[in-house]
Amino acid sequence: MSTPLIGVSKSILKIKELINHVANTCLNVLITGETGVGKEVVAQNLYAESARNTQNFVKINCAALPETLLESELYGYEKGAFTGAHKKRPGKFQTADKGVLFLDEIGDMPMALQSKMLHVLQSGEFSPLGSDHEFKTDVWVIAATNHNLEKSIAQKTFREDLFYRLNIIKIEIPPLRERKEDIPSLIEYYFRLYSSEYPNNNGSKPGSDILEKLCNYPWPGNVRQLQNCIKKQMILNSWEKILEELPKDQIQIPVAPQFETSYQSQQHGINNAFPTDRTSIISQFVDLSTSSDKLFEDISLKKIKKLASDRVEKEVIAFVLEKVGWNRSRAAKILKISYKTLLYKMDEFEVSPPR
Ligand SMILES: Nc1ncnc2c1ncn2[C@@H]1O[C@H](COP(=O)(O)OP(=O)(O)OP(=O)(O)O)[C@@H](O)[C@H]1O
Ligand SMILES: [Mg+2]
Repeated sequence: MSTPLIGVSKSILKIKELINHVANTCLNVLITGETGVGKEVVAQNLYAESARNTQNFVKINCAALPETLLESELYGYEKGAFTGAHKKRPGKFQTADKGVLFLDEIGDMPMALQSKMLHVLQSGEFSPLGSDHEFKTDVWVIAATNHNLEKSIAQKTFREDLFYRLNIIKIEIPPLRERKEDIPSLIEYYFRLYSSEYPNNNGSKPGSDILEKLCNYPWPGNVRQLQNCIKKQMILNSWEKILEELPKDQIQIPVAPQFETSYQSQQHGINNAFPTDRTSIISQFVDLSTSSDKLFEDISLKKIKKLASDRVEKEVIAFVLEKVGWNRSRAAKILKISYKTLLYKMDEFEVSPPR
């Protein structure tokens, strides 16, 4: 059974309405939003509301697999198609036939596979690896990403034609900090759910002052992070401790204290911690409080490398700009990049002078 889409904010109500409208059209849907906002929940709700709900909902994470494995998972293969292909295996396009194929993290699909995907979406036909046969497929494609695909197109890492194929219906889920009014109903829902899952542990619900603090926290990990706090509360029964342990919405990068910039403190209002141990470095990029199964599913070296390098780039750019009084040409010279690239990166990483 799929998780219900909880929320009372305008944006969630609009998304619910859109789900009802789109569910039986089978138009390709692209769901976007930060990590943990509920992209998979929306995909499952689309499927549950559609007439395809008696068939399969097949998910594939395009970021979790190397290119060749992703290709064979999607399209299947014939016996002997490659070393190790001891017997024929159906791909996700086949198992999802008449149902839904959920292409998660589509923004991380390698370019070569994007061309093949475009062909399948256009023709409705695919060939398993090692086969000359074209098979018909009738799948409803729902894709999700936390990348800005328009930017990926500009950077030539995502095909524009594939984007238009997938983006027939766009569902953009705002971060939780932009729909704080959903927080009380999410707390209510997960409290009820976990009370039955943890019958021997029953932490108290938040009182009005704690609720206010929870509503004002920026939730960088969105609903997933809120969910984990509620689980913790069931066991610890101390909102004070949970609030205290909430990671601050800061950019933590391993910079030596003498290089700590006032830009960071101005932007985030908190001191920058210098993570020294392995766990605290990794915990900036993945949620270590989830189960190992989920954790292993979430860990992708490629994704973490990108997140880490983006964070470091952003901080270095902000650091240099601040040192030169936000003189962009000087900063570009120091950083040894073109002025245009600097402007592009400032826009991408949302780096702007303090107001
Ligand atoms: N509106 C919601 N109502 C109920 N539960 C929600 C909602 N949004 C998210 N969740 C819960 O939060 C967790 C994260 O949601 P989900 O996996 O759908 O996020 P996501 O956007 O796909 O994240 P990621 O980009 O990291 O894959 C899940 O356990 C999900 O059940
Ligand atoms: Mg997801």
